[in-house]
Amino acid sequence: MRVVVAISGASGVALGNKFIEYLPKDIEVHLVYSKSAQIVQKYEHSSSVTLYNNSNIAAAISSGSFRVDATAVIPCSMNTLAKIAYGISDNLITRVAAVAIKEQKKLLLAPRELPLSAIALENMQKLATLGVVIAPPILGYYSEAETIEEMEKFIIGKWFDSLGIEHNLFKRWS
Ligand SMILES: Cc1cc2nc3c(=O)[nH]c(=O)nc-3n(C[C@H](O)[C@H](O)[C@H](O)COP(=O)(O)O)c2cc1C
Repeated sequence: MRVVVAISGASGVALGNKFIEYLPKDIEVHLVYSKSAQIVQKYEHSSSVTLYNNSNIAAAISSGSFRVDATAVIPCSMNTLAKIAYGISDNLITRVAAVAIKEQKKLLLAPRELPLSAIALENMQKLATLGVVIAPPILGYYSEAETIEEMEKFIIGKWFDSLGIEHNLFKRWS
C-alpha cells in the first residue's frame, strides 16, 4: 500500500508524526510537510519514508499517474482545508489532496481548530459530500484510555480504520 501523509501548520503536528510511526512497516510512506524543520529531522535518515518539501510541486506524488492508495492530511489547518474545498492547488499538500479527489482515492483530513467557524464547517460539509473523510482528532472516552498516549492511539486507530489499515492500537468495543 502507498500512502501520502501531509502535515500542515495546525496544532497537533505530533499526531501526524505518530500516525507515521504506528503505520505498519510494509506501507510505503510519502511525507509532505508544510513547515516544521523538526519533522524533517525525524525522518531524513529513514529509508521507509520519502520526504517532500511543500513547495516541490513537481514531486512524483503530485501526479495522478503515481497511483497513491490513500492520502491523509494530519493535522489539517483551516487554511489548507479551505484551499482543498475550493480546488486550489498552490503547494504540494493541496495538490496531493486535489489529486486524491479527482482520482477518487481515499482522502482523510484531520482538521484542528476550536471552536469551528461556519466557514470551516461549510468547507468540511462540501468535502464530506465528495467522499472526503473528515476526521478531527476528537477524544473518545469509551475507549477507556488512561494516558494521553493511549488516547492518541485511539484517534490514530480510528484514522487507520477509515483508510483500511490494519492495526491493534486500541481495544474494540464488544
Ligand atoms: C502556534 C500556532 C498554532 C496554530 N494552530 C492552528 C490550528 O490548530 N489550526 C489552524 O487551522 N491553524 C493554526 N495556526 C495557523 C496556521 O499555521 C496558519 O493559518 C498557516 O497559514 C497555515 O498554513 P498551511 O495551511 O500552509 O500549513 C497556528 C499557528 C501557530 C503559529
